[in-house]
Amino acid sequence: MRRVIIDCDPGHDDAISIILAAYSDRIHIEGITTVAGNVEVEKTTLNALRVCELLGLDVPVARGAEQPLVKTREFAPDIHGDSGLDGPQLPEVPKKTAIEQHAVDFIIEKVLESDGEITLVPTGPLTNIALAIQKEPTIVEKIKEIVLMGGGTFGNWTPTAEFNIYVDAEAAEIVFNCGVPVTMFGLDVTHQAITTPAILDRINSIETGVSEFVRDLLVYFTKTYKEVFGFEGAPIHDACTIAYLIDESIFEFEKVRVDIETKGEYTYGTTCVDRLHVTGREPNVKFAHSLDFEKFWVLLLSALK
Ligand code: BDR
Ligand code: CA
Repeated sequence: MRRVIIDCDPGHDDAISIILAAYSDRIHIEGITTVAGNVEVEKTTLNALRVCELLGLDVPVARGAEQPLVKTREFAPDIHGDSGLDGPQLPEVPKKTAIEQHAVDFIIEKVLESDGEITLVPTGPLTNIALAIQKEPTIVEKIKEIVLMGGGTFGNWTPTAEFNIYVDAEAAEIVFNCGVPVTMFGLDVTHQAITTPAILDRINSIETGVSEFVRDLLVYFTKTYKEVFGFEGAPIHDACTIAYLIDESIFEFEKVRVDIETKGEYTYGTTCVDRLHVTGREPNVKFAHSLDFEKFWVLLLSALK
């Protein structure tokens, strides 16, 4: 059983990642922490609470950072809509509320009391994790693994930078260099976890409240990916992290050096992935580069059933 804190900015694929974790008996969600990313943190927190309510998931939700460490805020309404979760019918005001404790303090407290058992799963900008490391550096000895969605060898926000890393590259630099084992799901692999008409049909044939919610999320997400990128399907980026924690055999990995660009005029937020080992530097990341499409979707569909 993996004990995880999901640090997220829901977000269509963040929501699906929470759903996958909630239905797995291999994952225990210690809490959900929220961060500004796809939309403002007020909205990502509300969305996390809405997803918990829909699932009947009774876990603490802690609200986190409202802005990146250094840069001004940037959001992604073209992809996720104004609410961050446009598409499905959502409870306007969920009954569940966030806990009083700030996400950064929640992460520190849980990690310190856990004795090396907590895995952090960031699927948004890395602001909360970096702040937690800055505030209580001893947590790095006690974090089991950081399994994150971010980066890649190409970009989706700039030509070279992926959204989560670009939004707070200074935070990413802290996290990638903190010494905790980092497993990275970047665009190279998440663009293989894509919706197709056949997959949407398979989801349509499942008749549960949650599957209807996921179908509506995916229909909207597929539409915006078509409008913005001209794609025929939408990548379910964030769910790769949880899929890995449930069944590592879905993915293939390489150990590589990854450095974060924080100064480049054109390349701010780029993950410099040294796949050919040209730097000769010690690898700091387990880099996922491919996945088994059918295995990935069978896992997701089984959660919806
Ligand atoms: C990442 O950015 C967000 O829009 C998604 O939720 C995902 O975490 C993909 O670049
Ligand atoms: Ca996300």
